[in-house]
Amino acid sequence: KTKLIIDVDTGIDDAIALALACRSNQLDILGVTTVSGNVSLDMATENTVNVLSLLGVEIPVIPGANQPMARPPVHEHHVHGDNGLGGARLPASEKPLVDATVQADEWIAQSVQAHEGDITILLTGPMTNLAMALDRDPKLPEKVSSLVFMGGSAFDYGNITPVAEFNIFADPEAAKKVLNAGFPSVTMVGLDVTRKALLTPGHLNSLPESPLTAFLKDATAHYMMRYEERNGIKACAMHDPLAVGAVLWPELLGTVPYYVDVETNSDLCDGQTVVDVQQRLRKQPNVNVATTVQSDAFMKAMLHQFDGKEGS
Ligand code: BDR
Ligand code: CA
Repeated sequence: KTKLIIDVDTGIDDAIALALACRSNQLDILGVTTVSGNVSLDMATENTVNVLSLLGVEIPVIPGANQPMARPPVHEHHVHGDNGLGGARLPASEKPLVDATVQADEWIAQSVQAHEGDITILLTGPMTNLAMALDRDPKLPEKVSSLVFMGGSAFDYGNITPVAEFNIFADPEAAKKVLNAGFPSVTMVGLDVTRKALLTPGHLNSLPESPLTAFLKDATAHYMMRYEERNGIKACAMHDPLAVGAVLWPELLGTVPYYVDVETNSDLCDGQTVVDVQQRLRKQPNVNVATTVQSDAFMKAMLHQFDGKEGS
């Protein structure tokens, strides 16, 4: 099994990503860390705990940064709704899953140390917690076997500014630090591919009735409405679940190694992921950028995890 730390800012699609990860039997999820992003830190933590509880799993949830490294917080309630779950109400967890005895950055550093060379980190929110963990342990990258993140837009347009994707835009200083930290294997699952992984009402209607299906329908109604306003189609992008897909089924993504850096000092372009296609900067590639996805196969594999039959 892949030992995994998941860092989230739960958020509708983070919730679905958690469901996908927890339903898989290929993963040993050591803990879920939370960060300010789509919603405040407290709301992200509460949503995470309630989603895990709905899924019936007992995994520690460790709260982290309540603001980006060098900027005020940015949230996305317009997309994710007032409660971050598109208005879907989940019963409050009865299990005390939150571990507030330690900060997420410290917990990440400790967990990586404890499982040196055998641990994957998956980020589906701003990169603040991991950047802070790097401050604690600059040698952390060489102890991590793989880092996968949902974020950025390599050759596509942005979703929060014309050029920036939300997770990178919310904390560009953290993203710049993480991408330049020397992690040996980094996979960027950006808008180039996540925009192609579309969930439709037809997909949801194909699932058997269950508490998870009811939640997915409730939570995505708002998300689909926002998507339809911009794109004219009733659907929603599975940004964060596709990053889980990159861990579970890497063969479904085509990647190309590039040097990628982040703009942090521009009125117009803050948070842009700058991809050096022709090695103009003469730097070694630091990121495997996902450029293609077998989206139908991914949607099928994801829905299979949600259909209540045996996980895989
Ligand atoms: C990313 O930002 C958030 O809206 C989603 O949860 C996802 O992580 C997409 O840009
Ligand atoms: Ca997210």
